[in-house]
Amino acid sequence: MLNFCKKIGLGGMPLSIQGRPSEPEALAVIQAALELGVDLIDTANVYCTSNEDIGHNERLIAKALKRWENRTQVHVATKGGLERPNGDWTQNAKPKALRLACEKSLKALDTERIFLHQLHAVDPEVPIEDSVGEFKRLQDEGKIRHIGLSNVDVEQIERARKIAQIETVQNRFNPLCQRDADNGVLDTCLKHQITYLAYSPVGGGRWYKALGENAALLDIARKYAMTPYQAMLAFALSKGPHVVAIPGASKIASITDSMKALDVILESEDLKRISEIEMVA
Ligand SMILES: NC(=O)c1ccc[n+]([C@@H]2O[C@H](COP(=O)([O-])OP(=O)(O)OC[C@H]3O[C@@H](n4cnc5c(N)ncnc54)[C@H](OP(=O)(O)O)[C@@H]3O)[C@@H](O)[C@H]2O)c1
Repeated sequence: MLNFCKKIGLGGMPLSIQGRPSEPEALAVIQAALELGVDLIDTANVYCTSNEDIGHNERLIAKALKRWENRTQVHVATKGGLERPNGDWTQNAKPKALRLACEKSLKALDTERIFLHQLHAVDPEVPIEDSVGEFKRLQDEGKIRHIGLSNVDVEQIERARKIAQIETVQNRFNPLCQRDADNGVLDTCLKHQITYLAYSPVGGGRWYKALGENAALLDIARKYAMTPYQAMLAFALSKGPHVVAIPGASKIASITDSMKALDVILESEDLKRISEIEMVA
């Protein structure tokens, strides 16, 4: 299990995809996160706008870390296995493509070894054993320190574990998407001491703007003098000691607010109410 100082990391995606802030604004968000004590930044080679822009988010993080005194204490997690032709999101987790992507990520992150490299998604045309096998070779060569998976189910986790030591699983988890609490992924991770990185923990692009309109969330937020975003994050963190939430932020205010969720412990009746919230698209 990978342990981080804070159970909340920074999700880098909104800094580099469509609608992204200017570079100085993006660097200021990363700097603010570091000042708040964030020691995990999640990125991916494909957090960018197209194949011509691959590595945008990784380069931003490298730039921000160059200015940061304690950069050895900050852990950067990136991913390989997707591509962005014409801005679309497509899969390519063939061993050769993963190796090339890893080489590019090393360059973009300006590092000799990637702290955590995650298979972004299982490619339906490539057995997971082949993709993870290439990650294992990259690890043996010293280019990757730890291996993680993303968007996986229990069977895929078990198959990958036969090939390499899996340190993290990164899946979507929030009150509106709790499948990993029901399908055994959260339990499997705890059993094998795998850190679970909850992505889109405040609902992702689809829901985050509507949180302030949910009566139950607002009611609970009022009770604890917190924001609905903090309620969502505290809910994710309540799922176990192995859970780390990685909320995205393109604004300093967002990550500043999110970090305050670390101080929140929700009563069980409020956790139940949050788990039952519904939103209309
Ligand atoms: N592995 C995968 O397939 C995958 C998929 C999606 C995401 N991810 C990772 O997970 C991270 C988070 O997911 P996400 O960005 O999709 O969704 P999210 O964490 O649910 O955040 C969505 C938006 O909510 C806003 N927000 C977050 N915390 C807030 C707060 N405390 N107060 C007010 N607004 C807040 C931010 O808006 P502003 O931009 O306005 O600050 C953010 O862009 C990504 O950045 C990425 O690193 C991984």
